[in-house]
Amino acid sequence: MPNMYKSVKTLQKGPKLSEVRQAFRLHGVNAWSHLQAQHGDHFMFQGIWVCSDPEWVEKLLMQKVHTRERSRLYKKSQKLIPLANGMLFMDGEDWQKRLQAVMPAFTKQEVEEYATTMLDHLELSWAVWGEGVCEDVYAHIIELNKKHLFHAGYGLDLQNQAVETWANRLIEYKFMRMDQRHRVDFFGIGWKELGALARTLRHTPKLRRLEKQIQQDMVALHNQDLYKAKGKGIDWYWRLKKAAFTDTQIAQELNHLYSAYNALDYALTCAMIELAKEPKWQEAIRNEWNTIKQEGFTMERYKSMKSLSNFCKEVLRYYPVTMGVSRKTGEEIQLGDRRIKAGQEVLILLYPLHYHPDYWDNPHDFNPDRWEQGPKHPAAYIPFLKGSRHCIGRHLAELNMALVVASAIEHFHISLHGEVPSLNQFMMPRFDYPVSLKFEVLEAE
Ligand code: HEM
Repeated sequence: MPNMYKSVKTLQKGPKLSEVRQAFRLHGVNAWSHLQAQHGDHFMFQGIWVCSDPEWVEKLLMQKVHTRERSRLYKKSQKLIPLANGMLFMDGEDWQKRLQAVMPAFTKQEVEEYATTMLDHLELSWAVWGEGVCEDVYAHIIELNKKHLFHAGYGLDLQNQAVETWANRLIEYKFMRMDQRHRVDFFGIGWKELGALARTLRHTPKLRRLEKQIQQDMVALHNQDLYKAKGKGIDWYWRLKKAAFTDTQIAQELNHLYSAYNALDYALTCAMIELAKEPKWQEAIRNEWNTIKQEGFTMERYKSMKSLSNFCKEVLRYYPVTMGVSRKTGEEIQLGDRRIKAGQEVLILLYPLHYHPDYWDNPHDFNPDRWEQGPKHPAAYIPFLKGSRHCIGRHLAELNMALVVASAIEHFHISLHGEVPSLNQFMMPRFDYPVSLKFEVLEAE
């Protein structure tokens, strides 16, 4: 068969590592948008095809051939990082099996049944949230969401010391992994990154010890018959148990799911910041929410809340929880007059898509009202991705996020306190130091 691409060029070379580092120094979290402005929507960086063209993103995510095999980067992370062996990093049958076991807990219907329990929990949580300056909003939100997940989800009672210890171990793991000194989700590899990698490897025995403790504690809770949910609601433990996974595999997946849940804690911290910056978003949502509460909360009424929905969508546009995701092409691709081989590693950049000047008006303005129209291209907005490897926690995350926002501003007026920290420069950007905001209790109407 003749080679139809014989005369076709490969993709153009993009920035060197030094240019990428310089872009991060100058533009922080917007570095990739600046590189996109200089090099276009497609370029090569250290052997990786970097893509922020919604047409191509759509194809890469939706065509099954490109989702079959996980990227090399994910496979390496799975091997390198203790307890990281969650479904995000898997492909083939291993991924299918885990997905089938936990997916029923994530359907829209299942999640929606959980709404009133979540609201009841929130009412209790605000009572102890306290008034005045909250020095670390992210840490407080982690505590708040911990209650939903462990109590309402697993049926575990956090009053029990053993449960509290186990929950705190999962949080400890997350903090250890997200500690800037030991992170490996940087862009490109040079001497500096190799040094960071070596430091992280030295840190691995600590993570291994924690991995063992998490598994032992999980088994001890089972032996004491403390998981009361028994496969109802968002109980992942029993679903994995029923699917005959080993304790090691269950501990890995529970830890992975808890880490994924943490993306929501970050998104909620961002939401609180934007509410604090602009009281008019608070007022619009509070008015809508108070009406719904007076009429009685139902999912149908909740779904009619335009201000709340627009606000949450804008938070996820403005603050994608990950700068990008990695993929691997499943077959050869022709891109204009360029050729991309099968098995090519791809970095799909969410930030530059969510801020792409061709698809968004004034992308650097935080403006929930833009959602009256929506994006100019469906793949220019993919906070949860799309296609067969999209985020399975999407419904849970959306509902949890909206209810926390609405319920928080029913009880508090939120305002800024000091400077808002900048975001760090990893694949998963997080705040450089704690976010501090002021919460004033509102008189009940
Ligand atoms: C605002 C909150 C969240 C956002 C924006 C978000 C976003 C994402 C994204 C972009 C991916 C794709 C990652 C990749 O392929 O590289 C993903 C995967 C995933 N997310 Fe979420 N996520 C959120 C919350 C959650 C929650 C609450 C859960 C459930 C505990 C969850 C569970 C998962 C799982 C299991 C995967 C892997 C799916 C697979 O590979 O098949 N996420 N999420």
